[in-house]
Parts: sequence; structure tokens; C-alpha cells
Amino acid sequence: MAKKQREISVSEFFAKNRHMLGFDNPRKALLTTIKEAVDNSLDACEEAGILPEIWVHIQQMGESRYQAAVQDNGPGILKKQIPLIFGKLLYGSKFHRLRMSRGQQGIGISAAGMYAILTTGKPIKIVSKTGLRKDAHYYELRIDTKVNKPEILNGKGNGLDIPYGERGDKIIQDEGIEWVTHFDPETPDAAPKPIAHGTRVSLELEAKYQRGKGSVDEYLEQTAIANPHVTLHYTDPSGVTKTYRRSSEILPPEATEIKPHPYGVELGRLVSMCKESTESSLSGFLTNSFSRVSPSIAKQICDKAKLSTRMRVKRIDRDHAEHLYAAIQETKISNPTTDCIVPIGEEQLLKGLHSVVPAEFYAAATRPPAVYRGNPFQIEVALAYGGNVETQKITKDLLKELLYETDARTVRQFLILTFNGLGPDAADKILKGSKLGTRKSPNKLKPKEVDTLFEAMQSVNVNEGQSMNVYRYANRVPLQFQHGDCAITKTIAQTNWRSYGLSQSRGNLPSGPVTIMVHIASVWVPFTNQAKEAVASYDEIQKEMRLALQTVGRKLGMFLRRRMKVKQQADRRTIFRRYLGEVAQAVSDINGADKEVVYEQLLEVARKKTAEADMVLDESGKAIDPSEANYGGGVLIVDKDEDELLADLINRPTEAEANGSAAKPADGEQSELFDEEDEED
Ligand SMILES: Nc1ncnc2c1ncn2[C@@H]1O[C@H](COP(=O)(O)OP(=O)(O)OP(=O)(O)O)[C@@H](O)[C@H]1O
Ligand SMILES: [Mg+2]
Repeated sequence: MAKKQREISVSEFFAKNRHMLGFDNPRKALLTTIKEAVDNSLDACEEAGILPEIWVHIQQMGESRYQAAVQDNGPGILKKQIPLIFGKLLYGSKFHRLRMSRGQQGIGISAAGMYAILTTGKPIKIVSKTGLRKDAHYYELRIDTKVNKPEILNGKGNGLDIPYGERGDKIIQDEGIEWVTHFDPETPDAAPKPIAHGTRVSLELEAKYQRGKGSVDEYLEQTAIANPHVTLHYTDPSGVTKTYRRSSEILPPEATEIKPHPYGVELGRLVSMCKESTESSLSGFLTNSFSRVSPSIAKQICDKAKLSTRMRVKRIDRDHAEHLYAAIQETKISNPTTDCIVPIGEEQLLKGLHSVVPAEFYAAATRPPAVYRGNPFQIEVALAYGGNVETQKITKDLLKELLYETDARTVRQFLILTFNGLGPDAADKILKGSKLGTRKSPNKLKPKEVDTLFEAMQSVNVNEGQSMNVYRYANRVPLQFQHGDCAITKTIAQTNWRSYGLSQSRGNLPSGPVTIMVHIASVWVPFTNQAKEAVASYDEIQKEMRLALQTVGRKLGMFLRRRMKVKQQADRRTIFRRYLGEVAQAVSDINGADKEVVYEQLLEVARKKTAEADMVLDESGKAIDPSEANYGGGVLIVDKDEDELLADLINRPTEAEANGSAAKPADGEQSELFDEEDEED
């Protein structure tokens, strides 16, 4: 057995354990590849202070083969760095620093390259350019998993330099290198601007393209919401390009790098920090390696650990480190500075959500920064209420494609898996409306059946059966898997949404046409696993989430209450209107008065009596009527045409009705509709 022992390279390890990095199946592999590349592009652009413009292109190359390409207008990468970044695992600029960014580990993009090679044998292709008149560099490379090193395959192992100008353009054309050369013109007659710098990576991998939950499409849409400063051009495998244009020209402020706070450092890390330290004295090590440790705090720690402040750091062994670790926990050290986290901000949240989720009411709240285990973090929540349900947003052609793509076994399963926020109840209602049996397979529907399904999707009212649509984010990156294990989902389910006018059965997500996004920003997001899919439930984090959810919940409650009032008045007005014509006619028959004049006068009376229905809201959604309480900022209300609003209100059950039927208070409990009983801040 002794003879069989040998070293395992990191890349061999991850090649065998690919599920750890998000490559568990072909569909997720495609998503992870796109996600790693896009996250890198966004990080690179933001670090360089460039407003990001990103092109994503997926092409089908064979039955189960796709090419995924991502290009950015970032700073580009130096020639000699390119092979290491894309062909060596655990190589990157972000691991050794404590700073808020999407990437952390230096694994992401090289792991995608490794998966591509393993499944198709095709090399990863990179073009990168650092300035308009600079050469671009083109590499085709593979990772040699045995030694975890890049192997360059083109240009006799040196890659290819592409000069600026016509000569370069010709090389690009002759070699068939893909590269977007110009931005879209800003106005139709303006000349398109050339792209001066950026990076394009493309990979061919075994994959499966399928829309719906957990898809590339979903990831890109959610990315656009949380990053309103980004323009994204996305060409899907059917060749259709969708562009998410930036709704904000402002880059998020740059996040500063911080030293670790002593409370956040584990024993193992403390030992390795001591080993790596170049400081001579223990006191110098403590004050210079950590944030918030002054010489006097360092002395307190040393005293508690019964070690001298002048002790040589090199002499610290595991035993000493254990004492030191215990002493740190016992010493009172102030919280870390919090300027190292950059929230999205209420205004940007509203802009982002509004540009992608059509709704009637939006509210957002950004909490002040807080700290868990020595790590600063910040929570934000935004909510959108109303608007069309996802099933009503699609065209018949798209429905056909989705039915063809899906691997769901029944139409019911297809509906639930494909459309966000569509719960089983709503799916049943649609099925009932379409009169399709429950066991029909989605791939085998006849054209007639597709038609009836489409009609039912458009016409059946599924507002009640919808469950809240939850978008989770960590450092602006959407989290799409493991929602049940995530602190975000848990906290939403634990919040009492009935007091804000939504129906909810205890411990579940509430129902209604609501989309909610929750963002945690931190220098170190506590994920529950390596694949970075769910946030761990620390008390401090859940408390901040709860407070933010309550803030937007209260605003939603106000909106719904106000709307209910408008609806009541509007109902009265419709009843008046229905009879005014006849009354005017009768009056005119009796006393000969002009029918039109009487009608106008009656109408005026009706208008006065139902003035609420005309209530005007200013830009930020505050009622202009001063007697109305105002929302206190962080709100956006989309004006509806009065007739549209009336039609809408008349056709739709009121929130109270919806509540009454969908969430009859269980076991004799009182309905808490609109009671406000929040935790105090
Ligand atoms: N498009 C890009 N433009 C500029 N630099 C890039 C680009 N993509 C990657 N890099 C650089 O390459 C490094 C390695 O990227 P990689 O995705 O492998 O790891 P990471 O982003 O540091 O961490 P993670 O594994 O969490 O994604 C990054 O740290 C960054 O410095
Ligand atoms: Mg990365």
C-alpha cells in the first residue's frame, strides 16, 4: 500500500469532484460556465472603473454540445497572465484580500475550462486587449490536470499577437476568431464606437440549454436587476438577442480592502497567519495584521494569553496560538469599519427591479451595515407588487419552444418548473382551465392542445395561487439553487406578511403577485457550501433581514390599504355611472330639463362623492392629499390609466377577498390583516 501513495493535484481532485464547483449536470454546467465568466467580467470592469458592457453568446454545436462565449469591455489582461488565469486552478487576484467582490477563490474560470476539455476535448479560447492601439492576444489553451499548469496550443506554444489596424482585422477574419469590435451606436445615426479594451473567453462544453428556473436566462435577468449600471447583450442558442440596457450611468463606489477582524479569524487561520508573518514581535503582529487592534488592545490580548508582547512571532506554536485565540474572544474589541461594503442603494434597487419586473408598486430598503463574527455585512431588500404573471408574459411561439425543451414529465410539472412564482395551486387552475388531463406529457401536446393551454395561461386568474417570487443575491450575484437552506428564504417565510395584506400560511412563503429581492453584501459572505449557493443562517444576519423585510412590508401594506380605498370608491362610482344616464332621462321626461346638462351635473356630484378614486400621487408615489400618510421614501409607484385601473380593480378580487379565501386564519386565529406589530428597530 505504501507504494501506492502519491500526490493528488488540485485539478485532478476537482476534475473528479466537479459537483463541488457547480458542474453536477450538463444544464448546470452551462449556467456555471456563463456565470463564472460574467462574474469575472463585472469584477474586472468595476475594479478598473469602467461601466460594464457584456456580450454573452451561446451557440449549439451538436446534440448535447454548446459553445459559450462571454466578452467584456474591461481593462483586458496582460499577455503573460492570460495562460495562468485560464489554465491553472487556484490562481487569482482576489483570494488573499478581504474585499467585497464576486470572485474569491481563483478557481472559477479555470474550472470551467477544465470541464470543457474533459467533456469535449476542445481548448478554451481567449482574446484580450488592453488598449485601442495595443496588440490583442489570442490563446487556445488547456489545463494539464496532472500538474495543474496551462498548455498553450496555438502559435507553437506562444499564442498569437494580433496587431491593431487592418492587418489585425485580417488575422481575426482568417483565423475565424470571434470578437465584437464596436459598441452599438447610441443614437441611430451616430457612428458605432470601437471597443478599445476587454476580454473574450469562449468554451465548448457538453451542456444542455433549457430555460426556466435555474437557467442562464434567469441568471442574466437577475444579474441585470442587481446591477443597473451594466448593459448586457445576450444571444441565445436560437439566435435571438436580448439586450438589458443600463438604467444607471453610475458605477458603484469602489469597495476598500480591510484587514481581518480578530473575531472573524479561526484558529487554523491564526496559526498560518503567524507562520506567514514578517513581523518580529507578537504585539507588532497583532496590531498590523488585524483591524481595530491598537497597541493597548494587543497588550490586553497578550496579558490574557499569558504571552509577552515582545515574544517572537516565529516561536508561536499551536499551543500558544490556542491561548491567543481564547484571549481574543475574551477581549473587547470594537467592530470593524464598515466602509468596505458597497450596497446597491435604494434608488438603484428600484431602478433595477423596475427595468426588469413590470409591476405597479415598488419599495426598497437598505439597512445600515452590521457585523457577524467580525465580518461587516449589509442587507437590502426590494419588492415589486402587481403586474403580469410570468405565464402571461410569454408568446405562443415561446411556449412551444419551452414545451419542446423541457424534461418535465407532466404539463403540471412543466408549469411549476418553468415559471417563477407559479405554485402548484396556480398550475392546477391553469390545467383545469385548459381541460388538459393532469398526466399529459409536455413534449407530446398536439397543436390544438398547445392552443388551449396558451389560452388558459392568458385568461385564468392565478394571482392568488402565485407564491412570492424570491430573488436572492450575495455581493450582487444571483443565487439560484438550495433556496430551502438559505437564510434569505427562511427569514421571508418567518416574517408575518399577513399584517401587510398578503395571504400566507404559517411558516411558508406568502402568496400574491409579489417579487422580492434580498441582497447581502459582505467582505466575506458565509455560504453554506463551496458552490456558493445559499447563505448560512447567522442570527445577526437574519435579524437585519427581518428588519429590512418589515420596512418594505409596511410600505406595501400602506399601498394595498390605499388601493383598497380607491377600489371601494371606484366601485361606488361605477354603480352611479351605470344609472346616471337613466336618471337624467327620467328627470328630463318629468320636467323637460336638458338631459345632457342633468347628466353632467349628476356626474359632478358622483365625482365629488368618490374623490378618492381620483387621488393623485406625486412622482415618488406620495399622495398629494396632505391628509394621507406618506411612505417615507424608497418607493416607486407606476401610474395606471384610470380606466385600466378600474378595469383591473373590477376584474380582480380585492386583497381582502383574496386573503379571506386563500388564508382563512387557521385554528381560530384572528386575521391580522393590516395590523402593524413590528419588531422595534
Ligand atoms: N474578464 C477578465 N478581465 C480581467 N481579469 C480577469 C478576467 N477574468 C478573470 N480575471 C482575473 O483572473 C483571476 C482568476 O479568475 P477566477 O475566476 O479563476 O478566480 P476569481 O474570480 O479570483 O475567484 P472565483 O474562483 O471565486 O471565481 C481573477 O482574480 C482576475 O484577477
Ligand atoms: Mg471568478
